[in-house]
Amino acid sequence: MPTILVTGGAGFIGSNFVRYWLRQHPSWEVVAFDKLTYAGNKSNLKDLEGQTNFTFVQGDICDREQIEPWVAKADIIVNFAAETHVDRSLLSSGEFVRTDVLGVHTIMECAHEHGTGLIVHISTDEVYGPILEASADEDAPLRPSSPYAASKAGGDLLALAYAKSFRIPVIITRCCNNFGPYQHPEKLIPLMITNALLDLPLPVYGDGKQVREWIFVEDHCSALDFLIENGTPSEIYNIGTGYEKQNIEVVRAILKLLGKPESLIRFVADRPAHDRRYSVNWEKLQKLGWQPKHDFDSALTQTVAWYRENEWWWRQIRDSEEFKRYYEANYAWRLK
Ligand code: NAD
Ligand code: DAU
Repeated sequence: MPTILVTGGAGFIGSNFVRYWLRQHPSWEVVAFDKLTYAGNKSNLKDLEGQTNFTFVQGDICDREQIEPWVAKADIIVNFAAETHVDRSLLSSGEFVRTDVLGVHTIMECAHEHGTGLIVHISTDEVYGPILEASADEDAPLRPSSPYAASKAGGDLLALAYAKSFRIPVIITRCCNNFGPYQHPEKLIPLMITNALLDLPLPVYGDGKQVREWIFVEDHCSALDFLIENGTPSEIYNIGTGYEKQNIEVVRAILKLLGKPESLIRFVADRPAHDRRYSVNWEKLQKLGWQPKHDFDSALTQTVAWYRENEWWWRQIRDSEEFKRYYEANYAWRLK
């Protein structure tokens, strides 16, 4: 049985990808390898327990002894493992450099030692920094603003350098903002949904007119599956949709879907170095034949319904001491 190794497989996109791959490729063995940081959650994979071609391994991509045997065994590797939240990188960034740069280095070293099949390294559109006009194509300069984005840029460039230097078959993807089921409630859409459900204030940074390009997580998974089949090693692919929204529009749409009042919105102190707009040019992927299947409005409706129906999932996170500490550090002073 061929094996796909999904690092960061217990996180938001990773767990959605594991489920997607098992559905599309039932003859494959899927190994989800994850450190289970505050963001990793075994209950994201709960429905897969007992499935014979699925294995979960708790481990750290920075620890060579732990990751090496899995890299050596894999036919395909998709690396989602990362510290991912910009606001947390502004509070403390050591773990970002460790996982997002040194973790990638460890995977590349193992691949260099043993040889591997294709490695898809998941980067982000944040590496381009703010795009005030038009859209960033794959050759746009990297101008990361946050410690998170800078660490991701480091990992991205390191993976490309290993591809060039040692002919390791690596594809880099730079996707726009994801949303959907199992996204940690620290991120904009789930934070606003769960705060609204709890009748708490909705903290919108600055004037709320920052623009993000949104993709439903299932479409990100389908783009990755498509690139595994059709992409060329050593190439970079932007993944986008064209669904650009101001944050305030997204927040208002969530309140409307939940039947909650706009008086819950609170404009609060902005994120430092807050990128005003992201927008990727994804013609390269489009020309290969991929298109997203979900439009923003219906995917948002589906996502809001999922959070409404799965309080058991987000409650355990929101009620944890870890989340309460983070909320206090990031929001208490802003909401005073
Ligand atoms: P997430 O924070 O939900 O999940 C990250 C996962 O990585 C968690 O399960 C965590 O436990 C695991 N992890 C962290 N450090 C690890 C380590 N040292 N070893 C093994 N596992 C470790 O993040 P996400 O939103 O699912 O993002 C996944 C990837 O996609 C990241 O690389 C991120 O940069 C990228 N990305 C995310 C988005 C987005 O909008 N969410 C957009 C573009 C790219
Ligand atoms: O663009 C891809 C990136 O998208 C990924 O690489 C990151 O891992 C992912 O976290 C996401 O980064 P953002 O910073 O864009 O996402 P976040 O959900 O944190 O914020 C989205 C926008 O909403 C951003 O402009 C900040 C704003 N925001 C966010 C939060 C959490 C608020 O106004 N208030 C908030 O409380």
